[in-house]
Amino acid sequence: MFVQLTCAIVDADAANRQELASFLARFGIPVVAQLNGPDGLPSLLGKPEAPQLVIVNLDPNAAAALRAVGSLPRQYPGVSFFMMSQVLDANLLMDAMHLGVKEFIPLPMSEEKFTAAIERVSQSNGAGKKARVVHVVPTVGGCGSTTIACNVAASLAKLGKTVLVDMDLMRGGVASYFDTRPRFTIADVMEAADKLDKTLLDNALAIHAASGVAVLARPDLPEDTQRVTGPGVSRLLSLLGRLFDFVVVDSAMSIDPIYAATISAADVNLLTMQLNVPSAKNAERFVGAMRRMGVEASKIKIVVNRYVKKGNDIEPEEVERALGLKIAWTVPNDFKTAIAAINFGEPVVIRAPRTEMSTSLIALAHGLSGRPGKAAAA
Ligand SMILES: Nc1ncnc2c1ncn2[C@@H]1O[C@H](COP(=O)(O)OP(=O)(O)OP(=O)(O)O)[C@@H](O)[C@H]1O
Ligand SMILES: [Mg+2]
Repeated sequence: MFVQLTCAIVDADAANRQELASFLARFGIPVVAQLNGPDGLPSLLGKPEAPQLVIVNLDPNAAAALRAVGSLPRQYPGVSFFMMSQVLDANLLMDAMHLGVKEFIPLPMSEEKFTAAIERVSQSNGAGKKARVVHVVPTVGGCGSTTIACNVAASLAKLGKTVLVDMDLMRGGVASYFDTRPRFTIADVMEAADKLDKTLLDNALAIHAASGVAVLARPDLPEDTQRVTGPGVSRLLSLLGRLFDFVVVDSAMSIDPIYAATISAADVNLLTMQLNVPSAKNAERFVGAMRRMGVEASKIKIVVNRYVKKGNDIEPEEVERALGLKIAWTVPNDFKTAIAAINFGEPVVIRAPRTEMSTSLIALAHGLSGRPGKAAAA
């Protein structure tokens, strides 16, 4: 069942409250109440739609503010209380613990620790990220990233609930590769966090009947690509990550904010390439950029598409040496099958499941699924 985690912020400073609300929005957590002191909490928590998370900045008078919170954490055990303060006093921490406070966050806040605390609360409320996010990035035009994204999504849909997001915002073809006509697009789900909910998403997603893949299409009007923003994409991926088992993104080779957000949200950044010089050069540049962004090597995978046993422009070993990474998978060259599937509007793995290309794509998907049995099969 879908659970939307909601939050109340208690802070004497309005600017602080706003800043924290924007930060939480990045996790898809709407702030339903902003209070300037703990006094308003009892009536808020007594309501049926009470938030599951309450974040209290105890400053400037930490001990008094903690006293005002009093027995609320014990009274409402279903609500997680986070306390924040610049004062790191052992007595204060002890008092907070005795009151049943879940997390004590020293200020200035460490984003990393705060994120981990939020994730813990989300998990315990059944609202945590469960999906595996696969970000498919082309290294040159026409190297087959959309084909790979669509077929990986269609294969993963056999293992769990799968959504495919088209983030090739200007030229993307995901909806057409699945022959679906969505009424809404990614641009329509970029609204403020409190409006981005399950109902809105349900309307925006088109379900491909034969595969079960939910498709979130690129904007119809080129002008609407401007509505897609970094924070909006973070929010979207966070919400999809809680609703689906697999999130596949057909992307672009870019580190602009929306793509940077996707790179960091991804469990796997799958670089699609062909064995030729332009593709290898771009792969090298992009792997370098991701490394500088702090992406772990284990989250970067190289897939060679249109592989032939003999006659590639460059050898796989040369690419591996240049990238300092092994090629994780190769998909065989089969233009006839690939283009027939696109023209028909159905993924290869459904339209031509017995071809070598399909077997390869299904095995690639299983390897990406993160499920040990399936990965071993691949
Ligand atoms: N394994 C393959 N063997 C042969 N042809 C393929 C293979 N994969 C894809 N193609 C063909 O390559 C062309 C480009 O494929 P696709 O649209 O998936 O690439 P892309 O990287 O998404 O391109 P774009 O730059 O337009 O986004 C298509 O005509 C497709 O049929
Ligand atoms: Mg494409």
